Amino acid sequence: MKLFLDSADVNEVRQAAEWGLIEGVTTNPSLLAKTGQPYQTVLREICSLVDGPVSCEVVATSAEAMLEEGEKLAQLHPNIVVKCPVVVEGLKATRALSRRGIKVNVTLVFTPLQALLAAKCGAAYVSPFVGRLDDIGQDGLAMVAQTVRIFANYKFPTEILVASVRSPSHLVRAAEVGAHIATVPFNVLRQILHHPLTDIGLERFLSDWRASRQKI
Ligand code: G3P
Repeated sequence: MKLFLDSADVNEVRQAAEWGLIEGVTTNPSLLAKTGQPYQTVLREICSLVDGPVSCEVVATSAEAMLEEGEKLAQLHPNIVVKCPVVVEGLKATRALSRRGIKVNVTLVFTPLQALLAAKCGAAYVSPFVGRLDDIGQDGLAMVAQTVRIFANYKFPTEILVASVRSPSHLVRAAEVGAHIATVPFNVLRQILHHPLTDIGLERFLSDWRASRQKI
């Protein structure tokens, strides 16, 4: 399973890239707005830090305007993937952009059928928001498992990019059900890097080795 970072914070992207753990980045209008920086500057810097897909969402509401924005975003860098919401206009824009060779990440997906429609429109990625489904008492990863089975039935090339990840357990289940990618907030990425028993065990190994006074 590929890991992407779900962030528009270039410091977080730089740190995660230095750890060598991420293969792409996803942003959304809320994350970009939070930076207080021009989105073009932020996206270009992220693309310089990570050699992989970098998703940026259109904010227009008509397919025609989404297409125009998508083409503009795609010109920022070869790694830019255009995000379109899974609404009628977004699906029309997805079809038009993918026909122009521009990769689309269809986002705000909450049902397997939304994911199916996105794949039929030529989406390169679909982003099921598992945390937001869990927030309303549903099982986000169960929806992802259904989507994995449906995509396998029809051999869709569209990759399932699990988003709205809230915890390491989301990542474990995403990998168990066979999602292609999970996009992870920086805090969750940091969580999966550390386990107290690993830290305790390593300290004990090193302490015993130091006591032996040997050198490698
Ligand atoms: O960026 C898309 C998705 O990961 C947003 O997650 O935490 O706002 O539900 P969240």
